[in-house]
Amino acid sequence: MATVLVVGASGQLGSEVVARLAAAGTHVVRALVRQSAPAFARNVDIFKGDLRDRESLLRACKGVDVVVATATVVFPRGRASFRRDEQEGYANLIDACKREGVKQFVFISLSVPFEARYLAICPTYRMKAWVESLLKQSQMSYTILRCPPFMDDYFALMGSTLPLQGEAAATLDRATGMTRWIRALVGNSIERWGWAVAPGSPNQSHSFIALGDVASYVIASLDNQEARNAVLEIGGPEALTWKQVSTLYATLLERPVRLLCIPAPLLRLLAFLVYPFSRILSNQVAILWILGQHGTRIDSANIAERFGVHRTDAFSYLQRKLDLGKTSS
Ligand SMILES: NC(=O)c1ccc[n+]([C@@H]2O[C@H](COP(=O)([O-])OP(=O)(O)OC[C@H]3O[C@@H](n4cnc5c(N)ncnc54)[C@H](OP(=O)(O)O)[C@@H]3O)[C@@H](O)[C@H]2O)c1
Repeated sequence: MATVLVVGASGQLGSEVVARLAAAGTHVVRALVRQSAPAFARNVDIFKGDLRDRESLLRACKGVDVVVATATVVFPRGRASFRRDEQEGYANLIDACKREGVKQFVFISLSVPFEARYLAICPTYRMKAWVESLLKQSQMSYTILRCPPFMDDYFALMGSTLPLQGEAAATLDRATGMTRWIRALVGNSIERWGWAVAPGSPNQSHSFIALGDVASYVIASLDNQEARNAVLEIGGPEALTWKQVSTLYATLLERPVRLLCIPAPLLRLLAFLVYPFSRILSNQVAILWILGQHGTRIDSANIAERFGVHRTDAFSYLQRKLDLGKTSS
């Protein structure tokens, strides 16, 4: 059986990949975690480690066939540095993989193109571009999954706690500092006041993807020849505007939902203004600016069929979350 190491295993996507692999029993599963480990299945081998710590990565990569790397500091739990955790951290990880003869590296990237104006303002975009280029030069077989916004994060960021239902490791629950405060204030504005928020134009559309579908693509990429040395653009089954998503909320919650759009130039200005106080918040606002500027319309019907991924549509996604909320209350 091949051994898979998940780096970022305590995060929302990483923990989903670990749980599915452990349940399938098709691979030996290793989870790299920094501190206390979440409740993984008993057949998961837990390795303590950090992208900053080269020795821990060498230990974790020994005997590994595939590394799945989902680690990011967009919503960090504690101390975080784009340079140390992602730039140097991913260089450490790729180096450890090469030394230990890892055969495939699966990396989660972004579907908005790496244009200079985005790279200039947003560390997350710079980090993704950097890791993609490192991987392409690494002579290791790589799979880069370029994703549009996840429903799980962006439907929640519009002002709803619905997407967080049933999530033990939700990315947005990791928010700290000012971000946590903003979420506490407006995190359920749709349910409370009937107000949804979106970046840029209400008509900007995205092929929002359910995080569970990203996990399905990750697993379908393992031991898959088609995924070798490949950059794969994946997405949900439909491109929806922010306005259409707010209408979905209105239909499901059976109440009027108005959409408040934050103008893209204001987001860009905010990203600059908060930079001296919080690089993390500045990066989050810069991502919103980019998604307000640039739509993501991805035709993934073919790849979904070839990889055997049944794509989740937005209505079914939200309906399932609503049902989960009803059964848990
Ligand atoms: N959300 C979206 O819409 C979207 C769209 C496109 C692509 N993506 C990408 O999809 C992936 C999403 O992952 P996710 O949802 O699971 O993120 P997440 O919930 O924020 O989890 C981040 C993970 O990274 C780990 N990490 C951070 N710094 C680390 C370090 N120095 N060493 C080891 N681990 C470290 C965290 O560990 P701790 O628990 O110890 O902090 C955590 O496990 C990311 O690569 C993201 O960029 C997301």
